[in-house]
Amino acid sequence: MKIVNGFDLMKYAGNHGYMLPAFNTTNMEMTYAIAKGLNMAGLPGYIQISSNNLRLSNPDVIACLTSDALKNSDVPVGLHLDHGKSYEDVKACVNAGFTSIMIDASHLPFEENIKEVQRAVRYCHFYGIPVEAELGALRGKEEDIVNEADCKTDPDMVLDFVEQTGCDLLAVSVGNVHGLDIEPKVDLPLLKTISEISPVPLVMHGGSGIPFDVVKEARKYNLLKINYGSDLRKAFVSTFGKAYEANHNTASVIELSMEAVENVSKKAAELVTIINS
Ligand code: G3H
Ligand code: ZN
Repeated sequence: MKIVNGFDLMKYAGNHGYMLPAFNTTNMEMTYAIAKGLNMAGLPGYIQISSNNLRLSNPDVIACLTSDALKNSDVPVGLHLDHGKSYEDVKACVNAGFTSIMIDASHLPFEENIKEVQRAVRYCHFYGIPVEAELGALRGKEEDIVNEADCKTDPDMVLDFVEQTGCDLLAVSVGNVHGLDIEPKVDLPLLKTISEISPVPLVMHGGSGIPFDVVKEARKYNLLKINYGSDLRKAFVSTFGKAYEANHNTASVIELSMEAVENVSKKAAELVTIINS
């Protein structure tokens, strides 16, 4: 299939009652692995890359790899910019063929966050592309970016934020954390409250490490998208780590890269299947 437009993907998931995993890619192998995993599971989702990762794999390269990886795929998959950190990155990704965008200005004061999102929304909506925005901030480690501050989403700000920005998806901070080093403690009552206020579907970042029974509960509260990064990166890195531990002279990059693709695809297939079971 071709890369699917983000609005179409959201609609498809809504109509079929799917929750969409958004799997973080890093490079070529991860991109092929995620496409393979979703196809193996027969379920839709996103391939996403964070702004931070664009210095390794630029938007044009990722868009090109994604469309090639999806040639043999029969499930709808969107290409999403994760934690978009600037208007320039937003434009570069839209121009490269991304079909869904996140602008993350959650570290800024409320009014400035709104302005940044409005600017991204104006650009993306012109091209028929949905925008995810974040209100509140997550603790933890997103690759090499560490955030110590725990700033849960304030339900009283939600309606104003969504209405003023025009965002299409809202990422919330409800005790979810980035990375595997801190234990997530998802505040389901807070998520429920937010879901009753938010006019748009919700997004849970920091999927790795959240118990599946919690994810299934969270699904009742208009949660449409859940991000998984660390789980896949661990499957990738541990493939090389184990081989190196077993033999410090190992140099089978081709074999190990293919094995890593296999391991990451299995992990992606397992995750998308469990959260939709
Ligand atoms: O934006 C990406 C994520 O929120 C991934 O978080 O590495 O904890 O799964 P995670
Ligand atoms: Zn995230």
